[in-house]
Amino acid sequence: MPIVSPSSAHKFVGRVCIGLGSDSAEAHLVADQLVGANLAGHDSHGIGMLPSYVAGAVSGHLKVNQFPKITTDAGSLVVFDGQSGFGQVNGYEAMKEGIERARQFGVAIVGLRNSYHIGRIGHWAEQCAQAKMVSVHFVNVIGHTPLVAPHGGAESRFGTNPFCAAVPGRGDEPAALLDMATSIIAGGKARVAYNKGDRVPMGTVIDSAGQLSDDPAPVMRLMNNAPDAGALVAFGEHKGSGLAIMCELLSAALLGGETSQPENARDSKIINNMLSLIIDPSATGEYAAFSDEVDKYLAYIAETKPRNDTKEVLLPGQPEAKARIARAQGFDVDAVTVDQLSAAALAAGIDGATTQDLLGITMQ
Ligand SMILES: NC(=O)c1ccc[n+]([C@@H]2O[C@H](COP(=O)([O-])OP(=O)(O)OC[C@H]3O[C@@H](n4cnc5c(N)ncnc54)[C@H](O)[C@@H]3O)[C@@H](O)[C@H]2O)c1
Repeated sequence: MPIVSPSSAHKFVGRVCIGLGSDSAEAHLVADQLVGANLAGHDSHGIGMLPSYVAGAVSGHLKVNQFPKITTDAGSLVVFDGQSGFGQVNGYEAMKEGIERARQFGVAIVGLRNSYHIGRIGHWAEQCAQAKMVSVHFVNVIGHTPLVAPHGGAESRFGTNPFCAAVPGRGDEPAALLDMATSIIAGGKARVAYNKGDRVPMGTVIDSAGQLSDDPAPVMRLMNNAPDAGALVAFGEHKGSGLAIMCELLSAALLGGETSQPENARDSKIINNMLSLIIDPSATGEYAAFSDEVDKYLAYIAETKPRNDTKEVLLPGQPEAKARIARAQGFDVDAVTVDQLSAAALAAGIDGATTQDLLGITMQ
């Protein structure tokens, strides 16, 4: 199995972004988030996303060196237009401003519309948690064919619309971080499985005949705008489907962004809109009591006796913390993704033949 060195991957992503015309600060933010997603165990949102960013920049859908522009400023409510720029810059700047306003007002509601892909949403909740802020994020995904069917439907109608919430911990890491697509599996997980020749869990996909399936191919066809496509299934039946719809209404319709309804353009791009609530727990005047209660509550949950078919009971965010330990020295990448990264590097003006070396790949 080819293993990628995290520091080499970081340099590789940065170099490709610079090849696209990004300045070094932008290249650094993109590399931080993509490699960070791999390290957190989310290959679906790691360096494997880079080829789609290169395609976006080449087609002009993704604009390098943009900065989010404030379009509404009502003090504790601020809305940014991401101007189709890198989501890694838009997300970082929007959270930075939101954290400052939450310090000032106790709470900030931050809208970010029309941003290119903002990647792993937990990254933004972690930025808030490092600043000792609670945060809640509703996100929609548009710009391409919708991937997910509403509950009971056989056709896709909306994106994998993630929901995320986090509570700060004693150190830099959140005490708890729930970060999830509202489809049972994220679209990128179907891509990773397809690239590896794997199946996805049964019932996470609907095929073109309207049957529940474990084949990622219908989702790949959907991503490629093929006519005989299927759809991803929303998690939690009517409840997850309802949350996905609310993500779309709150993150997009409320902020002047686009929902997945068909009058809005569908090209081959990945646009996110995000509504973030950032709350300063110290504004309640009870920060010490809050932290104590969080610790006691989470310890109580963590010590639950596991079910017969389960080894351990984890808290939201613990799988990512464990992955960071397991992957600190390197993470695996499949051959198809390496080929896609080579092609992307070539398109960004870097010699594709050296991608293996640039990624610091070793066989283990
Ligand atoms: N930007 C976008 O457009 C977009 C769209 C969809 C998803 N995403 C991202 O995709 C990533 C993957 O999403 P996902 O839904 O596949 O995540 P997932 O199913 O792996 O995890 C979802 C959540 O459940 C927790 N979790 C996982 N296993 C657990 C267990 N056994 N016990 C307790 N908690 C557990 C995780 O800590 C996480 O908070 C997320 O980071 C999300 O933000 C981004």
